[in-house]
Amino acid sequence: ADVFTFDPGFTSTASCESTITFIDGDKGELWYRGYPIDQLAAKSNHLETSYLLLYGELPNAEQMADFDKRVTHHTMVHEQMHNFFRGFRRDAHPMATMVGVVGAMSAFYHDSTDVNDPWQREVASIRLIAKLPTIAAMAYKYSLGQPFVYPKNDLDYASNFLRMCFAVPCEDYVVSPILAKAMDRIMMLHADHEQNASTSTVRLAGSSGANPFACIAAGIACLWGPAHGGANQAALEMLREIGTVDRIPEFIAKAKDKNDPFKLMGFGHRVYKNFDPRAKVMKESADEVLDLLGIHDNETLKVAKELERIALEDEYFIEKKLYPNVDFYSGIILEAMGFPTSMFTPIFAISRTVGWVAQWKEMLADPQSKIGRPRQLYVGAERRSYVPLSNR
Ligand code: CMC
Repeated sequence: ADVFTFDPGFTSTASCESTITFIDGDKGELWYRGYPIDQLAAKSNHLETSYLLLYGELPNAEQMADFDKRVTHHTMVHEQMHNFFRGFRRDAHPMATMVGVVGAMSAFYHDSTDVNDPWQREVASIRLIAKLPTIAAMAYKYSLGQPFVYPKNDLDYASNFLRMCFAVPCEDYVVSPILAKAMDRIMMLHADHEQNASTSTVRLAGSSGANPFACIAAGIACLWGPAHGGANQAALEMLREIGTVDRIPEFIAKAKDKNDPFKLMGFGHRVYKNFDPRAKVMKESADEVLDLLGIHDNETLKVAKELERIALEDEYFIEKKLYPNVDFYSGIILEAMGFPTSMFTPIFAISRTVGWVAQWKEMLADPQSKIGRPRQLYVGAERRSYVPLSNR
């Protein structure tokens, strides 16, 4: 009989070789193409980082201008795609809309679905990076019953997204540079994270030769879950539910109770066992944004900080090496910007698109890659004979 390694949850299986992102979970290190995330967060921006993730090197001025132009050229979506949005209920979760609409891009951009043609792969990659903010913003506008706002291509990536979400036709809308910078940083911090569940999903879907839009739709679907990208929505909802600092011990006790499925959302990570370097930057960013917006005495932030303090001193969390992850603080920033919690995970999806695309391209270019096909340990019934219905 075949002998397999049994590895539920793939905790010790490397599924590919990759040159894109490095994580050292014990040291709390994250590098994109060798550059530490804190350096990029301080000095780069999401679009430049996207170039780095896609092509392996930081761009020079000319390469950056060209990349910027190519991305902005593709920010609009096919006008007929508006009909897709209109088919959804207004109260649909924007992630549901995005899974559908991004998958449907396969039906609109036929000239970039041939995965064997490197040029088409490139065009599809740029289309996805360029259109995801537009699609997420449209999903949001649709949920509000407001008209869609078209992209404005003299704005940077983050500002354009904010404008498409918050501008209304009857009023002028000027994007706040503070918010744009914070949004850009959120995007950059989420841009890639090696073989996480959604990225592995994109690679697995892509390994069959499925078209890029279908693969990214699969990644969005996987990201939605509360154990993954959905944690940012779940974390803020949890902080709101806790409500006041005095209720924290009650929730800590619930999280520690073996018989209670409740987990502290925004805590813990499969790989980081020291701290999540993204959370560190995000926490600083949250402080900065609330300060600049003049939001003092924010009860949610107070609860978050106190919860973090108590948990980090608690034996259960110390022993299990559970620390706040990237999703713990991002929600506070997004809430301060005016986003409803349902938009948190779509913003994660926009940000992660470049990572998904870079990993998908890397896989297709890798001569070692083949269709992903895990095996199993069968533990079902022994061979048996069919019993006719009348005899059962
Ligand atoms: N609160 C309380 N206990 C926890 C938590 C938590 N947030 N996370 C893990 N544990 C416990 C868990 O019950 C288990 O205990 P035991 O050993 O007694 O069975 C132990 O710690 C190990 O946890 P695990 O679930 O086996 O670890 P994992 O690597 O399979 O899961 C995780 C990692 C991130 C899914 C998990 O920590 C979790 O569900 N956290 C809350 C959701 C969350 O914040 N997810 C975002 C992750 S970062 C961004 C992203 O990936 O999108």
